[in-house]
Amino acid sequence: MKFEIKRICCIGAGYVGGPTMAVIADKCPNIIVTVLDINSQRILDWNDKNLSNLPVYEPGLDAIISRCRDINLFFSTNIKEEISRSDMIFLSVNTPTKTKGIGAGQASDLKWIEASAREVAKYAKGKTIVVEKSTLPVRTAQTIKLILEAENDKKSSQENKNEFFILSNPEFLAEGTAINDLNNPDRVLIGGENEFAINALSKIYENWIDRSKILRTNLWSSELSKLTANAFLAQRISSINSISGLCEKTGADISEVSQAIGMDKRIGSFFLKAGPGFGGSCFKKDILNLIYLCNYYGLPEVADYWEGVIKINQWQQSRLTEIIVSKLFGTIAEKYIAILGFSFKSNTNDTRESPAINICKDLINEGAKLRIYDPKVSKEKIEIDLKQNEADNLKSSENISWYYSSSILDATKGVDGIVVLTEWDEFKNINWHEICKYTRKPTYLFDSRNICDLDRAKKENLKIWKLGS
Ligand code: UDX
Ligand code: UDX
Repeated sequence: MKFEIKRICCIGAGYVGGPTMAVIADKCPNIIVTVLDINSQRILDWNDKNLSNLPVYEPGLDAIISRCRDINLFFSTNIKEEISRSDMIFLSVNTPTKTKGIGAGQASDLKWIEASAREVAKYAKGKTIVVEKSTLPVRTAQTIKLILEAENDKKSSQENKNEFFILSNPEFLAEGTAINDLNNPDRVLIGGENEFAINALSKIYENWIDRSKILRTNLWSSELSKLTANAFLAQRISSINSISGLCEKTGADISEVSQAIGMDKRIGSFFLKAGPGFGGSCFKKDILNLIYLCNYYGLPEVADYWEGVIKINQWQQSRLTEIIVSKLFGTIAEKYIAILGFSFKSNTNDTRESPAINICKDLINEGAKLRIYDPKVSKEKIEIDLKQNEADNLKSSENISWYYSSSILDATKGVDGIVVLTEWDEFKNINWHEICKYTRKPTYLFDSRNICDLDRAKKENLKIWKLGS
């Protein structure tokens, strides 16, 4: 069956949908790509003439947007019309962990996926390929299929009936390097049952990706591979973080251990950086999902194994607060502490599951007054994450629990401790001589990412704690 894809749309203009569709538009000038979202403000932001206002910060994304937007890349809220004229529809809506009901705390909430499938069922016309981009529990494709078919069954005449083909095409991009990951992926995974639909999607990717990197599997393998890849990556981080604790007790150095084990080809050197714990929208959610699936299918031992990865991640975050309190003479009440970095990793403005959130809340609970600086995270986002308004805070200056700083220098004024939580480049070469003119002595530097220039810091008599040594 021959079927040329001329128009595609994507429901969900988030961290995955936005950059992924931008790269497809960039690489396939003959295809019209529209990114849809129910959140009209988000769409306005994607259409903002000032590219620094785009809702997602990713290096290289603004250049693509300025090349393609309003040429073959569009951002719109007109879901009905776009679905009806698209040959291929990507689903890239969020799938957070359920907060109530069966599977609360572990299973993914699929209400947005279901709602999107219903919209597709209602408005799609003719042959339509539906592509799962969101990370989903295994066998979600079946749910989507049932919804699409049920709507079809309601249609009376044969001519009005649609033909739907469902594919799983999980996205492996990491935030901060999304554009490079999309341009040069290690592999593209397409899970499906229908040869013609798989070929149609593969053809899009073949515009810039070698065919040998495009892997075809069945639907369930594809869905499970995404969960497994994220679980393995997170497991490496928990493994190295667990050893960082042991290094601190024994006098070994975690950077040296990482290097030594990473040179073993069987282990490999990537994803071995100890830090304040993994964050991001995927790792925790996907492991919880895996745990839920294992329990559901009667594999509690497997569920327990993966639960350990999450427990170590929580331990890593909470022990950091304990160390800070202990080093600052057992109390941080009324003490000023600088927080350098709030995003869950560098080169993104995303704070979902950022270790900074729990660490800042714990420090505030201990009575500290925080001065928070991040090059890309807005004050408003921090307010939401800490569930506390900076403005309210500032009204009564005695009760101030956190303050939004616009520079490293401002954040570190008068502080007893400086905590580096994100590995932003600008924290690697801090002018400690300048900073130390304004801090309270003794000043402690807590480097949870092992990125600071400690020789320079030592010259200024900073007391130093670095993770894993
Ligand atoms: C994606 C995936 O969808 C998720 O499953 C994966 O694990 C992480 O990446 P992401 O793009 O990071 O999520 O999420 P987010 O930035 O929250 O974007 C989702 C967008 O979908 C939001 O803008 C939201 O408004 C939109 N949405 C949600 C719809 O347009 N329709 C809906 O019905 C629900
Ligand atoms: C991850 C996966 O890498 C990606 O394939 C998937 O599509 C989505 O989830 P992301 O969460 O964007 O991507 O970033 P990633 O680079 O994987 O980092 C996740 C967390 O692990 C961050 O908090 C990061 O700081 C931490 N991390 C990563 C470490 O602590 N040490 C490392 O060595 C690597």
